[in-house]
This record gives sequence, C-alpha cells and structure tokens, in this order.
Amino acid sequence: MTITIEKMCKSYQLPAGKSLKVLEDISLTINDGDFVMILGESGCGKSTFLNLLAGLLPLTSGDVSVNGGSIDGPHPSRSIIFQQPSLLPWLNVEDNITFGCKLRKEHNNIKQIGQLIRIMGLSGFEKVYPSEISVGMAQRVCIARALIGHPEILLLDEPFTSLDTFNRTHLQQELIDFWQIESFTAVFVTHDIDEAILMGNRIVLLGERPCHVVEIFDIDMNYPRDIASPQFFDIRTKILRKFKDILLTPPEF
Ligand SMILES: Nc1ncnc2c1ncn2[C@@H]1O[C@H](COP(=O)(O)OP(=O)(O)OP(=O)(O)O)[C@@H](O)[C@H]1O
Ligand SMILES: [Mg+2]
Repeated sequence: MTITIEKMCKSYQLPAGKSLKVLEDISLTINDGDFVMILGESGCGKSTFLNLLAGLLPLTSGDVSVNGGSIDGPHPSRSIIFQQPSLLPWLNVEDNITFGCKLRKEHNNIKQIGQLIRIMGLSGFEKVYPSEISVGMAQRVCIARALIGHPEILLLDEPFTSLDTFNRTHLQQELIDFWQIESFTAVFVTHDIDEAILMGNRIVLLGERPCHVVEIFDIDMNYPRDIASPQFFDIRTKILRKFKDILLTPPEF
C-alpha cells in the first residue's frame, strides 16, 4: 500500500491557550513495499509522525492517504508497535498475541502463533502473564501481536529500544526476513543511525523545531548488511554530515 503525506502539520494545544507546533509541512510518498526508516533526534516529533499515520491523532492541517483514501482513524490493515510495550495484563502471552485475530475471526493467522513464538524467543512463556515477563520480552510479544495479523502497513516506534544488543540484532534481521517474505510497507522510527542503515531501503532524516524532512537517502545495499563495510561507512558519514548541519542551524523561536 502506498502512503501519501501532503503538507502534514501537527500542533498540540498547551495550557493557557498556547500551542506547540511539532510537525511542519511534511510531504513524503512511501511506496508500496518500502521499508522506510524515520530518523531523528529524541523529541523531534517521530512518535507524533507515526501516530498520525496510524490515524490515532488528528492532523492540524494537510492530508495522509493510503492508496488514495484519506486516513480518518485506525484500521486493522495498519498495525502499530508502540515505543513502550502495551499488553492486556489479564491475558497471557499467547492470548495477547492472538487477541486481535480472535476478534476478527482470522483462524488461519491464529494457527501461525507457534512459529512467531519461536522466532520471538518466547517458547515456554506462552501461558505467562505480562506482569511476570521483562520489558524486552513484553516488547517481543507486541511485535508478534503486530505480525500475526499480516498487516499491509506496519508502523514501528523505536520497537527495539528496550532490547539488549543480542536480541535487537536478531530481531532486526527477523523483521527484514518477514518483510521480504510478506512485502508489507514498513515505517520504522528510530534515533539510531546504524539501525536505520541496517534495515531501511530509504531513510528519511528529520530535523526539529518544528520537525521537517531534511533529506531522504536511498539505501541500495543487499540484506543482510555488513556494518563494517565501506558502503555502510559512506552512508553513515553522509547522514552524520547532514546531521551536523542540522545541529549547526540555530532553532527558530
Ligand atoms: N500530547 C501531547 N501534548 C503536548 N505536547 C506533546 C504531546 N505529545 C508530544 N508532545 C511534544 O511534542 C514534541 C515531540 O514529541 P514526540 O513524542 O513526537 O517526539 P519523539 O521524536 O518521538 O521523541 P522520543 O525520541 O523521545 O521518543 C515534544 O516536544 C513533546 O513534548
Ligand atoms: Mg517517540
């Protein structure tokens, strides 16, 4: 599915009639099957950006459309993995993963739970409740829950931040494998330059105050990518140079 973002703006209302302009005039086309990395500093507006694409927040102005139809709320074809794990505390791991599929009576999807539990390293924890697992495990449950429904668009908000390096590296590759098989459209938010280069076929670099698109990088490298390769180093240098430009630009008040 193609996501078209046209002059997207978002301001939050603050107390005493004030408002905070977070996103300004963002225009971007995310093509069907893209794996787009949204890269920006902490607090620049990445989660706001993703929540607007999910239809969880209203736009202040502009438009976001999927295959030509404007988004006016959440939809099961668009799955989001939040920055913090969000599980239903009264359901065990297995039931959390299959909750949405059961609601939508997607019996074939439910059958695939064994494979996802294995990939996410959750074998043996199927009947355990969220209060009894670590934050990293809870996030892996959230990822399995998002993947089991075979979404056409997968939105990911720094999903690996709470994971250790071993789990993160493993899941980055697993997610790319899933994407290559299922060819969904992915929009992945990160503040980690290496993660962006490892995973995306495009990187959208955001600047802040208010958040805007600074540059888009096309990453023409095969998977799995070698973090020690000269090509990897080149693209990292290009991004860092651009990043330095952003940091050198004084903020507008
Ligand atoms: N509901 C809200 N009301 C008011 N201001 C908000 C709200 N949500 C976010 N903000 C502000 O909008 C700005 C962008 O926040 P956002 O969470 O989108 O950034 P982010 O890039 O995801 O940050 P991080 O990397 O730390 O997750 C911040 O200044 C934040 O304080
Ligand atoms: Mg965020």
